[in-house]
This record gives sequence, C-alpha cells and structure tokens, in this order.
Amino acid sequence: MQSPYHVLVVDDEENILRLLKNELSSCDRIVHTAENAQSARQALKKQQYDVIILDIRLPDADGLDLFAEFKMVTQDVELVLITGHGDIDNAVEAMRMGVFDYITKPFKLDRLEVVIERAYQRVCLQRENRGLRHTQAATSERCNLIGRSAPIQEIKFLIDKLTHSEVPVLITGESGVGKDVVAQAIHTRSQRATQPFIVKNCAMLFREMVRSELFGHKKGSFTGATEAHEGLVAVAHKGTLFLDEIGDLPEDVQASLLRLLETKMYRRMGENKERRADVRFLFATNRDLAKAVEDGAFNEALFHRINVFNIHIPRLRERKEDLPLLVEHFLNLLSNGRPVADMPEKTLKRLLAYDWPGNVRELRNVLERALILSDGKAITENCLPKELLDSGQGNTNAPPLSLENMEREHIARVLAICHGSRQRAAQVLNIGRKTLYRKIQKYGLEP
Ligand SMILES: Nc1ncnc2c1ncn2[C@@H]1O[C@H](COP(=O)(O)OP(=O)(O)O)[C@@H](O)[C@H]1O
Ligand SMILES: [Mg+2]
Repeated sequence: MQSPYHVLVVDDEENILRLLKNELSSCDRIVHTAENAQSARQALKKQQYDVIILDIRLPDADGLDLFAEFKMVTQDVELVLITGHGDIDNAVEAMRMGVFDYITKPFKLDRLEVVIERAYQRVCLQRENRGLRHTQAATSERCNLIGRSAPIQEIKFLIDKLTHSEVPVLITGESGVGKDVVAQAIHTRSQRATQPFIVKNCAMLFREMVRSELFGHKKGSFTGATEAHEGLVAVAHKGTLFLDEIGDLPEDVQASLLRLLETKMYRRMGENKERRADVRFLFATNRDLAKAVEDGAFNEALFHRINVFNIHIPRLRERKEDLPLLVEHFLNLLSNGRPVADMPEKTLKRLLAYDWPGNVRELRNVLERALILSDGKAITENCLPKELLDSGQGNTNAPPLSLENMEREHIARVLAICHGSRQRAAQVLNIGRKTLYRKIQKYGLEP
C-alpha cells in the first residue's frame, strides 16, 4: 500500500479547519491545519506537504503573497485557493501565478475533495518526471560534457570528429577540469563503446608493479608473482585503456609503451611470446609534458606519439560561462530525485566571482556541501564556504576589465583552444601572424 499523502489547510475560521480535518482525513490522506500564515510557515518547516489549501484572506498575510513565498521554499506541492465571492479577480491572478485551482466559499466538500485529489495526482506526475530527469542526469554524468563556452564547444566538436578514429588522444588540463569526463565521452562515442573502458591512474601504481599491471606477467616471473596476471592491456582488449597521469610512468615502462603504440605488440613479464594488443589508448596529464621532455623526465618519442591529438581543457575560471550550466547539472544530479534546490541569483553571483582553483571538482564539492546546509530550501550565501565568500569579496562588483586586459585574456584563451598554434590562433582572431606575435610578446604570453 502507498503511504498517505499530506494536506495542509490554512484558514482563520476554526470551524472550517475542524470540518475539513474531520471530513477529508482518510487512510490515504492526512490533513493538517494552520490558523494563520505564521503557523503555516512553522508547519512547512516540519513536514513536506503534497497539497496546500489556502484561504486568500488571512489575518496576518495576503494569501497570494503567502503563496509566492511557499513557491520559493517548496517544490512538488500544489496549491488550492479558497476565495470569497469578491475575490474572483484575485483568483484569476492566482491561476496565472501557478495556483492549481481555486474554490469559492461556500463550497461543497465533495467538490473540494475532487480538486485535492487531482492536485495530488499532478504532484505525483511531477515527481515522476523529476525522477526520470534525475536518472538521465545520472547516466549522462559519465559521458556528457556540460558547457557552452567556446573551448567546451570546440572540445565537443573534436570528440565528434574522433568517433571513427583510433588515434591516441592526450587530454591535458589542471586537476578537476574534466579530463575523465572527456576521456569517457571519447570512448562512449567511439566504435568501441560497447567494449571495456579501463581507467588507470599511473601516479597510483607502485613503481615496481607498473609493468606487470599494464602488460601482465607469467607465474613465477618475479618474487611474489605466485599467479599469472594478464595485465590491463589484455583486460581492455577491444576496448579503451585510459592512462591518467601519464607523466608519472616510469622510464623503462615508457619505452615499452612506445613500442606497443608503434607496433601494437607487447610481452608479458617473464615471457618471450609476443602478444598483439587491440586497444585504443587515451592519456591524461595535468603536468607540462613538453617541459618534462626538456628536463629529460619523459621519453621524447613517446611524447610525440601520444601528443598526435591533444585536447586541452582550460581552467574553470577561464570559462565562467559554463558555470551556471554546471550548477544546474550538479544540483539536478545531487538532489537524488528529491526536489531540486533553488539557486538564487545572489548566490550564483558569488560563485561567479570566485576563482575556482580546484575547477569543476571544487564546484561540485561546494554544491554538495551547500545542499546539505540548505536543508532542501533555497541555497543562500550562508551555505557557501567562508574562503569562497572571502575571496569573492569586492570581486562581485569588480570594475570591468580594461580593453587591454580583455585583449590579453582573449588572446590567451584562443591560444589555449588552438593548443598554442599561433598560425591557427591568428586565423581565429582574424589578425596577421606578425601582429599576433607582437601582442604575445607585449602581454608576455609566451609559453
Ligand atoms: N564539463 C563537465 N560536465 C559535467 N561534469 C563535469 C565537467 N567537468 C568536470 N565534471 C565533473 O567534475 C568532477 C571532476 O572532473 P574530472 O573529469 O574527474 O576531472 P580531472 O580528471 O580533470 O581531474 C567530476 O565529478 C566530473 O564528473
Ligand atoms: Mg582525473
């Protein structure tokens, strides 16, 4: 059996409250009452209601104002107004504002009961829809790249282009910008989508174990190798192997990986037999691999082999246009099928003023925390961490950038999108290459 649903009746006439409570309560409907706006507000703090019946004239508030207030703090609730004869205009206005229905005094009980029943059905429908939306959000988290900024659009474009390609891809960007999301999206749209997607963070591997983890080993091939191990290249057979933090791969293993990429052949530890790999490789790093090559810390040939196709994800603060969409996405995702919390303009402004050193991951964490603190109500500034509020101070009303600063930021962004290719950047900016060089020097944008 379904659990009963909750109705709140707000009316200042005590006999009406008593009557409705007695007559409308049933095994599948619990009726609560409040005699004024004040006690209605209290009641709303304690209980989630499905339907609220509200007298338009209350001693301490206007019914319509109260309705607007309820709409701010609750979701998945329908309102029915009780009006007097002279309030028809108000009632029409109320319908426009989103009241489910109104009923004029004196009313028949069975008519009210029908309206309540219908209102409740609509609430159920809304919840169902939200549930659907929620599951969609949950599945899309793995493969959907949220954002509408120029760099994200470019990345989506590139991912589409990669659908029929098996080329290794190097995904770069600071921690938390969404490298995993991009890797997953590339796999999900590739011809290998139904095959395994294996993720390994090279920084998490014990140095001595890396080779065996990747390529596998024969039983007895080293002390402690009591069992044979097939290795990730075999586990990811026909699928995609995503090696995260590739900059941390030990040097000797770098050489073996290069050989695998070039010949598609590899050997398990302790074996002479050559095995053929059928794996698509994706790589990610938050380090500057070109610099690591210069410093002799990364195999140059391997670098060129994995850097054939580079997708760079800029920091979140360089693409704040994405922030509102990401907020909406995470609120949907994190509310777990419960009503999605409201994010007032003021709070959003705070988020926009912040620098986000931890990028999208930090945003997600901040929202998760805020949702807990907001207790199902609108997310106020008080729900944000202190550091965020402090660092955003003054920024909220920061003066607009000077034209020079704008130009500098814009050029930096275009260069990032073009992965440092000045020729391409000059084309995008529609200026001559020499002019671009001059500006790069002027603004100190050399890598
Ligand atoms: N563009 C995006 N759209 C949706 N979710 C994102 C996006 N970018 C990052 N995320 C989310 O932010 C968190 C960190 O992203 P992740 O891919 O793990 O970052 P990285 O691998 O670059 O450190 C994850 O929860 C991820 O789902
Ligand atoms: Mg990652």
